[in-house]
Amino acid sequence: MCSIIGYKGKNSAAPILVDSLKKMEYRGYDSVGVATIDDGSILVRKGIGKVIEVNKSLNISEMAGKIGIGHTRWATHGGVTDSNAHPHSACNKNIAVVHNGIIENYKELKAELTAKGHVFSSETDTEVIAHLLEINISGGIRKAMIDTCKSLKGNFAFVAVFQDGTIAGARYEEPLIIGVANDGYFISSDVLGFLQYTDKAIFLENGDICIVDSSKLEIFDFEGSPVAHPITQVAWELGDIDKGKYAHHTLKEINDQKQTVVHAGRQDEVMMQKFCDILGNAKSIYITGSGTSYHSALLFKHMLARFGKIRAETVMSSEAEYALSSMEADSILVAISQSGETADVLDSVKLAKSQGAKILSILNVTTSSLARSSDAFLSTNCGPEIGVAATKSFTGQLALIYNVTDRLCNGCLGTSKAEFAIAVENVLANVASIAKAAEKMNGATDIYLLGRSLHYPVALEGALKLKELAYVHAEGIAAGELKHGPLALMEKNTIVIMLNPHDDTFSDTISNAHEIKARGATVIGISDSKDDVYDHWIEIPRLNQSAFYPLVEVIPLQILAYQLALANSVDPDYPRNLAKSVTVR
Ligand code: M6R
Repeated sequence: MCSIIGYKGKNSAAPILVDSLKKMEYRGYDSVGVATIDDGSILVRKGIGKVIEVNKSLNISEMAGKIGIGHTRWATHGGVTDSNAHPHSACNKNIAVVHNGIIENYKELKAELTAKGHVFSSETDTEVIAHLLEINISGGIRKAMIDTCKSLKGNFAFVAVFQDGTIAGARYEEPLIIGVANDGYFISSDVLGFLQYTDKAIFLENGDICIVDSSKLEIFDFEGSPVAHPITQVAWELGDIDKGKYAHHTLKEINDQKQTVVHAGRQDEVMMQKFCDILGNAKSIYITGSGTSYHSALLFKHMLARFGKIRAETVMSSEAEYALSSMEADSILVAISQSGETADVLDSVKLAKSQGAKILSILNVTTSSLARSSDAFLSTNCGPEIGVAATKSFTGQLALIYNVTDRLCNGCLGTSKAEFAIAVENVLANVASIAKAAEKMNGATDIYLLGRSLHYPVALEGALKLKELAYVHAEGIAAGELKHGPLALMEKNTIVIMLNPHDDTFSDTISNAHEIKARGATVIGISDSKDDVYDHWIEIPRLNQSAFYPLVEVIPLQILAYQLALANSVDPDYPRNLAKSVTVR
């Protein structure tokens, strides 16, 4: 959950590296560092804070040299300190390394290296890589990379810069991509790291090492055998991460939804048919995802059961190790992930594959590891999502789920892209009423969200948004469970949001609202019909197909969480302790 970048070319490296790190900062943002080579010496500048701040205080972009590496960190081993920020150097300062992942055997390696006289200057697991390279360098950089990779256990992608001007990278279970430009090479965690300079990418596989020396690129495996990968042309639009007129990426992405729910409907017909054929003919289906994508999985399960008469089980990806151990060989695992790089999701895919299952995925990043491990995938097509909170990717996933379900039930849902767009636009226009609800909720320490059936996963999703963006304790509850315990929490000043559009859950949920109100709590209703029980009503449009309500009722929740984040002085794009892509277990 860090971003790494290397550059070797004809231009000044530091400004390019800083620019690339800004684009990948969503992967981790507690500290930043860059190393360049100038006149045969490795220069390092690093510190805690965001790219913009650290660059301002240390003038990173003015560092000399046309070769360099850079990093943004999300701390795993060792606190957030200047000395734990990457790059890390070995004793002789002739090698510097940036790393993403976790070196599981770092304690043993550190003890061995210390016994040999190596002195460590950080608490990180990464530093062992620099010292190992230093020990192994006597046989040349190629051998040093191979021997070092063979000593490491865990998951890693790293890029090293050597005093002679060589940069080298290695990948095992963490993404690493080479950008091939006319005047140089990039080695990056994400295509966003170089897409502003080149759209030509080589996706490294597990166990690959690459070396760029005197502007020649070589790729080989951990045994030293040459490896050939094609150059892929990446869509330029993937690099479109400007927040335009909006104060935050999160706000832009919430507003983008009026277009992105339509874009999710633009699918390659052959791929869509393949996906639906595999799913429709499956004997047993498991659906997995993490965080927001898991909430989509819950909705998918409901939709398949109710409209497609297809049974599926849902499994949180972080629980898959325990839950999928008895999968039948001809099962299907549907993996849902915005990034396609979430470690828990990729692990569940690996486990399912090892048991003979086929993999279908719903993802946003079509160049991701998940896309490359799937038998068929569908893209939410919503463009890069930079805000840590998933917003447009969630509604993109829902729009796709509706499309797939509609195919599987021979058009019984009647999905309409135009209807989605109008409905989303209507909710977005209702911002003033949502702001009033946010005022009522300001200062609350606990917020409960209640819904039944399809609205329950939305309640969970709303609670997740409030937790991560506004740092408020929030809980999604299946409304029918209220009487089994949570009702005890209802009293004066408790805030409860009811997800209650006019469908088959309406009257039962209204009864719950009365029970809550009778205990003195404040009830905020998100519904297409007004009711006296609500202390505040957030209106959403009436829809012809009631199964589509989740798509619109989640938007007020996203806006509420965004507004409460601002009220609580949280930067909604970069909430504390989190990163957009969770690539560690
Ligand atoms: O990229 P993914 O969809 O696999 O990410 C899964 C979760 O990490 C993600 O949804 C996370 O929960 C979001 N920050 C929620 O807003």
